[in-house]
Amino acid sequence: MVKSVIPTLSESEVTPEATYLKRRDFLSTGVAGALGVTVMPSFAAGTPFEQKAAAAKTTYKIDEKLNSLEDITQYNNFYELGTGKTDPYKNADKLKTDPWSIEVGGLCAKPGKYPLEDILQPHTFEERIYRLRCVEAWSMVVPWLGFSLASLLKRFEPSSDAKYVAFHTLYDEGRPLPGQNRPVIRWPYREGLRMDEAMNPLSFMAVGLYGKTLPNQNGAPIRLVVPWKYGFKSIKSIVKIEFVKEQPKTSWNTLQPSEYGFYSNVNPKVNHPRWSQARERRIGELFKRETLMFNGYQEQVAHLYKNMDLARFI
Ligand code: MTE
Repeated sequence: MVKSVIPTLSESEVTPEATYLKRRDFLSTGVAGALGVTVMPSFAAGTPFEQKAAAAKTTYKIDEKLNSLEDITQYNNFYELGTGKTDPYKNADKLKTDPWSIEVGGLCAKPGKYPLEDILQPHTFEERIYRLRCVEAWSMVVPWLGFSLASLLKRFEPSSDAKYVAFHTLYDEGRPLPGQNRPVIRWPYREGLRMDEAMNPLSFMAVGLYGKTLPNQNGAPIRLVVPWKYGFKSIKSIVKIEFVKEQPKTSWNTLQPSEYGFYSNVNPKVNHPRWSQARERRIGELFKRETLMFNGYQEQVAHLYKNMDLARFI
């Protein structure tokens, strides 16, 4: 690992984004940059999370401008915190993430209720810079922090009968989050992936962004990020993971199957009834850009769908 020559900054003196960009500036011109490896500088002090965040390597990046921390944290879809784009930011403090645990069940050898600390403990963190494409035809570029979904799922030793994996978001009927007082969808929010999609190296569990803990409005403390699918597949604030044999029921597909499929791979040729998918608006930009097949991740994921007629699948 490359040692930093930046003097230790007091984190309170600077905004997280400014700190982050400063580190990246250094790294792009420093030794690490020259070697083609990005390594965040290490700080001796800090919580285990902070230490792992500081040691994270960038293992995937695209050559596109990052959205600002403000874009990423103040323009959100998180219906549990409200349906308006700024509601999740305004209601972020309503989501309590400590303590947190994930219930793991279904067809696996290691079911159980795991405290978040145990979930995170064995994983080193990586940074992945991915496009996020919402079915509403907007997109962003986000520097996520976390680890591969495959590395997490393997720990529970799924059986060969497990063909799909299902995820649930937090829903406490006694103490619903503000948006859960309305039946916008049938709570809890549910999503799912086919097992080979889940095991694809791009599928990611994010616990942070811009080198810091995940903000509540982005799905703290832990969320899925599946960059080649529409954003609604990237379920936030996960409390349950289940290995199943049959394709699981997912929230949007159950609510409106003609509008939202189970697969929901980004596809410029298959339109949603309300939003053409041919083009998209990158948040912060004036002009629309062409939507990329599989959101630009064709090379990594097209093989997963070679026997499917993609035109039939939203
Ligand atoms: N997860 C939950 N639990 N609830 C939601 O409303 N919205 C989805 C997805 N995950 C959503 C969710 C949608 S539609 C999108 S586009 C992305 O989160 C948005 O992620 P972001 O707010 O971090 O950009």
